[in-house]
Amino acid sequence: MAISLAGRSLVSIADLTREEIEEVWRVASAQKSGEVPLEEQLRVAPGRTLALLFDKSSLRTRLGFEVAMAQLGGYALYFAPADVRIGEREPVEDAARVLGRTVDAIAARLSAHSHIEQLAAASGVPVVNAMSNLEHPCQALADLLTVREHKGDLTQVEIAWVGDGFNVCHSLMLICALLGARLRIATPATHEPRGEVMEKAEQIAKETDAAIEIGSDAQAAVRGADVVYTDVWVSAGMEEQATRRRLDFRGFQVNRALLEQAKPDAIVLHCLPAHRGEEITDEVLDGPQCAAFDQAENRLHTQRALLALILG
Ligand code: CP
Repeated sequence: MAISLAGRSLVSIADLTREEIEEVWRVASAQKSGEVPLEEQLRVAPGRTLALLFDKSSLRTRLGFEVAMAQLGGYALYFAPADVRIGEREPVEDAARVLGRTVDAIAARLSAHSHIEQLAAASGVPVVNAMSNLEHPCQALADLLTVREHKGDLTQVEIAWVGDGFNVCHSLMLICALLGARLRIATPATHEPRGEVMEKAEQIAKETDAAIEIGSDAQAAVRGADVVYTDVWVSAGMEEQATRRRLDFRGFQVNRALLEQAKPDAIVLHCLPAHRGEEITDEVLDGPQCAAFDQAENRLHTQRALLALILG
């Protein structure tokens, strides 16, 4: 049966099935390789509009959505943090109803995950989570496509996450569970992933033979891994906790010594932006094992494919 995502929202990565994720990647790879030429892509969403509602700054996510809409023949309208103030200037539902009568889809980076859920419920148009404090599903789509491009069969790959058990980690847990991958997470005890996400990932993993483990030993997580993935210790909006967090995360830096615990051909991922010298060293981020810039490029390919499927 043909897989359709027409008119669908993506609030959590777990809104997609394994088959739907594979379909996003099939389209992404065809567009990326040129198998679907630009002239054909431009006919996917002519005259269609995407509102970008961002309450935090962005390079990759915004760039991916804006370039994607241009390449699909449509148009993206960006609303900056100072413009948005969603839930402050007016109720989320009122903004959602206005947007739904005006644009064809919404990509929302809103700290409050519940605001993205409310937008999806009230707007009447597809809403894509462009990052909340709970999840970053667009990041997860690019992450595991990058792993598959480098390593092949995802069920045979061991992925180590070293760092904060926050939004990027949450979506990674869920997509690894959906796709039957093996993920070992090492976080300081006070920065573990949320229990509700762990429960959901475990529930999905029972059906897929995925293995999701959580601990606090970075060396143990990385030992023998095919992929070593990290993220910043101080995410946007956590600046007041910066001093405390830098202490909490000591021992969780991805540096040469830690990477030597992984397989010799392991790749390194980072969702970027990186805080060089904190969670990752220059020699690793600039080194031959780093795939973080392939990963960043795949943000465009996966977001364009997602939009093509939603709007197509
Ligand atoms: N990784 C990521 O979402 O990057 P931006 O914050 O620049 O969009």
